Amino acid sequence: MGQSHAGNVEVLHYWTSGGEAAALAVLQKMMKDEGHTWTDFAVAGGGGETAMTVLKSRAISGNPPSASMIAGPEISQWGDLGVLAKLDTVSASERWDQLLPPVVADIHKYQGSYVAAPVNVHRINWMWMNKSILDEVNGGKVPQTWDEFFAYMDKAKQSGYVAFAHGGQDWQDATVFEQVALGVGGNEWYQQAFVQLDPKALGSDTMTQAFTTFKKLKSYMDQGMPGRDWNLSTSMVIDGKAAVQIMGDWAKGEFAAAGKQPGKDYVCAAVPGTQDAFTFNVDAFMMFKQQGQDAQAAQQDLSRLLMSKAFQEEFNLKKGSIPARPDVSLARFDSCAKQSMADFQASAKSGTLVPSFAHAMAMQPEVSGAVYDVVTNFFNDNDMNAAAATQRLVSAIELVK
Ligand code: GAL
Repeated sequence: MGQSHAGNVEVLHYWTSGGEAAALAVLQKMMKDEGHTWTDFAVAGGGGETAMTVLKSRAISGNPPSASMIAGPEISQWGDLGVLAKLDTVSASERWDQLLPPVVADIHKYQGSYVAAPVNVHRINWMWMNKSILDEVNGGKVPQTWDEFFAYMDKAKQSGYVAFAHGGQDWQDATVFEQVALGVGGNEWYQQAFVQLDPKALGSDTMTQAFTTFKKLKSYMDQGMPGRDWNLSTSMVIDGKAAVQIMGDWAKGEFAAAGKQPGKDYVCAAVPGTQDAFTFNVDAFMMFKQQGQDAQAAQQDLSRLLMSKAFQEEFNLKKGSIPARPDVSLARFDSCAKQSMADFQASAKSGTLVPSFAHAMAMQPEVSGAVYDVVTNFFNDNDMNAAAATQRLVSAIELVK
């Protein structure tokens, strides 16, 4: 279905790192090839907090972009405002309901109509390990438990490497904490605490143990950690300066952009204790009501392209994620992506799919923002103990949920 009218789309996103920009360029080219023009509305800031703030101000002023990156239940809040364009025509003609797993489809509908097009599934409970450091310092053995992990951290630090690469920003602190909590507490407890917001689980000794394990990581970080962007930490692992980063597989996009291969230059492995779980988030583009036939036609073409097989293959190869559509062939994807798809499907079957609260899949933004604050303040305050952080978490969530 070619375009009937050349139109313009303005797209808000926060994909400004090397790998992210390379992935987005796939979409920009496809839209250009269909005769449309692209106004790039990039708002830097990993995790997208800043982008979402800018989007809210644009929408409040009655001037939303054609489309914006979005993830998770927040889509329903936008739907409540009546500003989203319904994608009934393109989703029906392209058979989205038959293509998407229900867990992915439902997030992107409002009152039964698609209002957003999902493009991927990111796995977040990954460790990214520099392979030559792992071979030199740990005989190539991937740590499976937290004891083995910290033993490796000690050896990497003693060998003169930055053992743990991290960027001290609230969303990154929350991202790492979330995986540690899953690894320490397990899938069932995580769901009770961070999905059901059960005060008992939130205030449990398990939570205190998770906070304790999380802060222990701090002694393995370098002086440049505060405020560092996530992709600069990934570069430290790529360049052999640091041994490990815990981050979603958007980090794999940086390895790909640097021409690095899994199994040869780096190793992807589940965060200790999370081997049988899959923490996920789904990137999507939410469509805002537009005036004028050309703008609407361009927006419909954008939606169709986002969910097309061709786009989802090329985009995810560069983004580090796996396609939202399970029918896209992974023949051209690397071993980490193939493991991710296998684990995603196994976790979907066994009920161990874990929606990421750090990446907008488990809570409304006002709740995840409160969790961000508690986690980051605890991480930065060397005098705050884990039990106090647990109590602060319980009361912070009670206030906002
Ligand atoms: C996540 C998003 C990823 C990547 C990451 C770092 O929330 O889903 O696509 O952009 O932030 O910015």
